[in-house]
Amino acid sequence: MDFNMYQITIFISIILASLITPDAKMAFATPQKGKTEVLKFDSESDVAVALAKYTADLSAKFVKEKGSFSVVLSGGSLIDTLRVVPLDSEDSNFLLASRGFLSKVPIPPGNIYAINDKLSPEGAADDYEERLRRLVSSKVMPVSSASGFPKFDLMLLGMGPDGHIASLFPTRQQRYEKKRWVTFITDSPKPPPPRITFTFPVINSAAEIAMVVTGAELANTTKAVLHPHQGSPLLPAAEVSAEGELTWFLDKDAASKL
Ligand SMILES: *[C@@H]1O[C@H](CO)[C@@H](O)[C@H](O)[C@H]1NC(C)=O
Repeated sequence: MDFNMYQITIFISIILASLITPDAKMAFATPQKGKTEVLKFDSESDVAVALAKYTADLSAKFVKEKGSFSVVLSGGSLIDTLRVVPLDSEDSNFLLASRGFLSKVPIPPGNIYAINDKLSPEGAADDYEERLRRLVSSKVMPVSSASGFPKFDLMLLGMGPDGHIASLFPTRQQRYEKKRWVTFITDSPKPPPPRITFTFPVINSAAEIAMVVTGAELANTTKAVLHPHQGSPLLPAAEVSAEGELTWFLDKDAASKL
């Protein structure tokens, strides 16, 4: 696979809200909007291989169609936890992104948008959104004609046992944010407490979304999301839909209750 390094842009929504109040609001099961495909694999490494090929194929497709490809790496089990740690720290997902499976793809450092870890969570969210707004104003980043929100080519999402995606948790109000592109949380139920996250309107404006879920500890949640009981509260993971296609990458353990 040939990549032109200057065509690929990666956005790292590093997880970087203060009273913990369980949400009064509840979302109820509604039909998913976009297309959804569920792929099952024998092992986590088979998932990784398939995901790398899927990403490479999409990259080639988008570069051919429009001369660029944008990818967002977000939280959950995909990159374990996207932490608010200095970018030179070993567990920063900046490093994971540059050394992980995307290391096969040459990405110029200037095309990697990581959070500014010198700022407060609120400041980091504002700064990240502002950088994204500049990319939209300068027509580097397209917006969805359906939603008006920035449209990434690919979002890679993980899911937590509580059904959270990115840093949108079932019990935090950020999951209901409708205006902001990027928001922050200071009391994440999962450490570390402060995180920044893309909001649902941005996530669901992505052309393609991969939901990457492995491990038996996620089997119940996977079932609850893919086969929700009528009338039961909708988990954040169940509200993900891509403008194009949402593809679930499951290993056999995560798929064991389906
Ligand atoms: C999954 O659900 C089953 C039955 O509802 C329960 O016994 C089990 O403890 C759950 N597993 C996890 C990891 O939550």
